[in-house]
Amino acid sequence: MNLENKIVVISGGASGLGLATARYMVRQKGAKVALLDMNQDAGAAAVEELGDDNALFCLTDVTSEADVDKAVEAIMVKFGAIHADVNAAGIVAPAKILDRDGKASSVENFKAVINVNLIGLYTVMAKCAEKMSLNEPDEKGERGVIVNVSSGAAWEGQIGQSAYGASKSGVNGINIPAAREFGARGIRVNSIAPGMFATPMVNALDPKVKDALIAMCEAPKRMGEVDEFASTCAFLIENSYMNGRYIRLDAATILQSK
Ligand SMILES: NC(=O)c1ccc[n+]([C@@H]2O[C@H](COP(=O)([O-])OP(=O)(O)OC[C@H]3O[C@@H](n4cnc5c(N)ncnc54)[C@H](O)[C@@H]3O)[C@@H](O)[C@H]2O)c1
Repeated sequence: MNLENKIVVISGGASGLGLATARYMVRQKGAKVALLDMNQDAGAAAVEELGDDNALFCLTDVTSEADVDKAVEAIMVKFGAIHADVNAAGIVAPAKILDRDGKASSVENFKAVINVNLIGLYTVMAKCAEKMSLNEPDEKGERGVIVNVSSGAAWEGQIGQSAYGASKSGVNGINIPAAREFGARGIRVNSIAPGMFATPMVNALDPKVKDALIAMCEAPKRMGEVDEFASTCAFLIENSYMNGRYIRLDAATILQSK
């Protein structure tokens, strides 16, 4: 799908990988973006930066179906269509299964991570797919493209990442059934599993943890640059033969247990 003048919805679009993707879509691809995020100040700043004609911010908690419905309605009013959806809203919230005393930790943390990273992602994806289905197919028969953000933790989650890893393997598990279901509608679904990218989520980590993570990168031995992620999103949207798959974007990194 050609991105020029297309409408790209980006959850988590006010920060990190989502914001970098929004900038890339507008500046490199001539697309327009709708940012769904809980961070009002950062969302407003992004719209100011990208221009009111090119960007819309919708204050949205992706765990609230009503918020997502409201956001999609606002996007349809402003732009009239949705062509692509990049689902980058996510939280890490590490926690061990057993606490220091060997007692089972509260299940609430596990539920919260699944709720944002998996159920929230599903909600935005489903609501966007509904609107994509209304598009006239392009010359290749395409109506829309979904890119879901997974993580290397889907395969090699570290200690404390049971919720995060479970949420991200759930994201990968959506690829094939969704691609199969949406095929007849001209909508493709893929995911990207990033390794380590220098975003606020990662910058918030203890410097020692960060150094340990960089040491696990095989080559190049550095964090990913956010445009390397954004251009992969563009590739997945533009390449009509990419469907139902994931890309591990991680410098051959295999996460160790801690
Ligand atoms: N940065 C990395 O190295 C890395 C690695 C693997 C996977 N990821 C994944 O990439 C995605 C983006 O991460 P990032 O590094 O850009 O993080 P980030 O913290 O910079 O951005 C995440 C954004 O999601 C938003 N968000 C969180 N909960 C939300 C909710 N309930 N509703 C709406 N918005 C919400 C936050 O406000 C924030 O703007 C996440 O899904 C993360 O799990 C990141």
